[in-house]
Amino acid sequence: MNSIKIHDLTFEIKITSTEIQQAVSEVATKINTDLKGKKPLFLAVLNGSFMFASDLLKKVTIDCEISFVKVASYEGTSSTGEIKGLIGMNEDIKGRTVVIVEDIVDTGNTVENVWNELKTKGAADVKIATLLFKPLAYTKTLPIDYIAIKVPNDFLVGYGLDYNGLGRNLADIYVKSN
Ligand code: IMP
Ligand code: MG
Repeated sequence: MNSIKIHDLTFEIKITSTEIQQAVSEVATKINTDLKGKKPLFLAVLNGSFMFASDLLKKVTIDCEISFVKVASYEGTSSTGEIKGLIGMNEDIKGRTVVIVEDIVDTGNTVENVWNELKTKGAADVKIATLLFKPLAYTKTLPIDYIAIKVPNDFLVGYGLDYNGLGRNLADIYVKSN
């Protein structure tokens, strides 16, 4: 099935699960080399990153810890794109290497806020690993250390990404049809 309907919109297949797994393997290989001996803590940002985190970490073979956080956003009125904090951050990260695991970096607001929060909590080194990156939408200067797939400014669903709550369970990634 190459075309699907979610709510009011039609989507077409864009990145197959085979292509995703290949890209995820390449990121894992880099991480295995770069972070060997550092016992990194992988912090997957829910909900979107659950599939990427699961597949990536099956391919990460170095000693590491894995935990999950949620971003608490200011509702409605905030124009700053700031976050209220991280829900579920129980680990002491002082002096540690922490890898933020994200589904997608778009403007970069979310990941920059999470990065700042982790540095404030005393992390020695904070890396960013994202499944998808939209370089044309990115407004920040923070380097994105590990990018599986670069994508244009299209709206995508699947493999963790949702459209109004639906589509996260799709194994492939779909793009909104014009
Ligand atoms: P940011 O603009 O980098 O802060 O991205 C914020 C959030 O927007 C991401 O974590 C996703 O939840 C969502 N997002 C951005 N682009 C897409 C997309 O193409 N599909 C689904 N969600 C998206
Ligand atoms: Mg997200």
